[in-house]
Amino acid sequence: MCGIVGYVGHAEAVPILLDGLKRLEYRGYDSAGVATLEEGCISIRKEIGRIDDLRRSIGKNPLGGTTGISHTRWATHGKVTQKNAHPHCDRSGRLALVHNGVIENYSSLRTQLEEEGHQFISQTDTEVLAHLVGRAFDRSGERTQGALVSALREALHLVSGTYGIAIVHAEFPGLIIGARRGSPLVLGIGKGENFLASDVSAIVGHTRDVVYLNDYEIAVLTGEGFTISTIEGNGADYNVTTVEMTDEDVSKGHHSHFMLKEIHEQVKSVTDAMRGRLAHEEATAKLGGLNMTNAELRSVERVILSGCGTAFHAAMVGEYAIETLAQVPTECEFASEFRYRNLPMTKDTLVFVLSQSGETADTLAALRESKRKGHRTLGICNNVASTIARESDGGVYMHAGPEIGVAATKSFTSQVTVLTLIALLLGRIRNLSSSEGSRIISEMEGLPAKIDRVLKLEQEIASIARRYAQAKVMLFMGRQFNYPVALEGALKLKEISYIAASGYASAELKHGVIALVNEETPSIFIAPHDAVFHKNLSNIEEVKARGGPVIAIGTEGKGQELSLLCDDVILLPEAPEYLTPILASIALQFFAYHIAVTLGCDVDKPRNLAKSVTVE
Ligand code: G6P
Repeated sequence: MCGIVGYVGHAEAVPILLDGLKRLEYRGYDSAGVATLEEGCISIRKEIGRIDDLRRSIGKNPLGGTTGISHTRWATHGKVTQKNAHPHCDRSGRLALVHNGVIENYSSLRTQLEEEGHQFISQTDTEVLAHLVGRAFDRSGERTQGALVSALREALHLVSGTYGIAIVHAEFPGLIIGARRGSPLVLGIGKGENFLASDVSAIVGHTRDVVYLNDYEIAVLTGEGFTISTIEGNGADYNVTTVEMTDEDVSKGHHSHFMLKEIHEQVKSVTDAMRGRLAHEEATAKLGGLNMTNAELRSVERVILSGCGTAFHAAMVGEYAIETLAQVPTECEFASEFRYRNLPMTKDTLVFVLSQSGETADTLAALRESKRKGHRTLGICNNVASTIARESDGGVYMHAGPEIGVAATKSFTSQVTVLTLIALLLGRIRNLSSSEGSRIISEMEGLPAKIDRVLKLEQEIASIARRYAQAKVMLFMGRQFNYPVALEGALKLKEISYIAASGYASAELKHGVIALVNEETPSIFIAPHDAVFHKNLSNIEEVKARGGPVIAIGTEGKGQELSLLCDDVILLPEAPEYLTPILASIALQFFAYHIAVTLGCDVDKPRNLAKSVTVE
């Protein structure tokens, strides 16, 4: 949520900053801004809208300089206006600051500063922080780089909340200072140049050598080098990591949208989630990253799965998988609720937090609360260097590659794959027989080929989607393993097309939802040929009896009854019930995508959303 890019070196800063912001645009895209240092002055340009709007505005009114900071915003405090866009300045106008996160006590600090005569231009919490740093620096009476860093330390002690920040000051050309608490920052090491960003994808085109800052650390960057210290003023150890991601990984390639590219990547992402993790001989899954012995896993009496948005829906599929395959009582909890509930948790409760980005504030808070209560807490993350990955006691990486489209696609199927592996592992140290284990392994190995067949249905699904694109309301129905898929299908559609879509357990239809059914309200039933197929069929009859159009997702070779009853049918390869969510969700991703494209929506950057929500 929000993106930061900073550059200091020998090249013109603006093209590097704009290019980096463009790659972070999925993190926030309300407004954007840049500040550079030029001949002892700070020059700032800000624009409402997208990075291209800012680029156009800079094109008309260029700004030079080889040191600069920049920001793309997802508004939290203050409306989307040019004044509220970052960077923000201190009282002197000689210090500029960009910020991700939320300064929670900004209101009282602002009042105090106003009483001292400070005037504010914006409604943001960030501007308060800029004034605090500037005030401490001016009060110090010293005009040195060391005094500026001390001023930052002093200011950071006054604020509560979260921040990832970057600062430049007119008196120090060739210097950027960054600091982090709760909002990621990564330093990129170049030759005669250095970079600072909230996400490595912004700088990976320039350098692969990076240092991830920890919370409560300050980085001071010049073209020649950098230092890292703690907010308390002590030296800090750091590791230089070589990033594996390439520039190509974070570009759309020949696809018209990142979302479409990522849907098509699912043969690979699901294969990668399983790679090296299927132990044929023992007919189980091998998940060394859990850092738990079989004896420890055997003593787990309860599992809690927590996440937000799509990750929560994947967790719900995991609940069915773990209970079905391993018979371990499992519960899903929204990460945003977890820490405010006094959830009864016996000492043998194992907690998993799921997060593609590994930075979602609510999920991180759930992880910390669970650990504080003394529970072993494991992460299922995609972003290897993320805060959740680093703070959890162990876990399973998804290995899905960067997901840039705001609507999650491949991360859902990777999370479900990982949860199925966990269910297999937990099952095999309990009652699941070796032959059942082997059958599950062989089903999982056959999954990528089935995904490939679903991907080949794109045009068929697209033509169905186009016929329903004008609907104002859509209902998604599924049972058992596919109830979460109904929720996820509805979420995908509303996120990117703004159609009011809701997901339900099919039988719930009769308890209220059926009141919405009419000729204009299509219902999408996920009805594979499983144990509840005929129950779904009855629910479809109920909708048809009331004139509602029905699109059904069924099973190849077994679609006759659906074809007789439904307006449109999409048939997917046969799979065991615990794997049908992966195939059905991909069909629904195509469905949502093609409706959104038909409606002319901005698929990769839907209104009001952000990829990684790093505020509570
Ligand atoms: C945001 C995104 C969703 C995502 C959720 C959780 O709301 O728009 O697509 O599912 O965050 O993200 P995470 O990175 O924790 O999986």
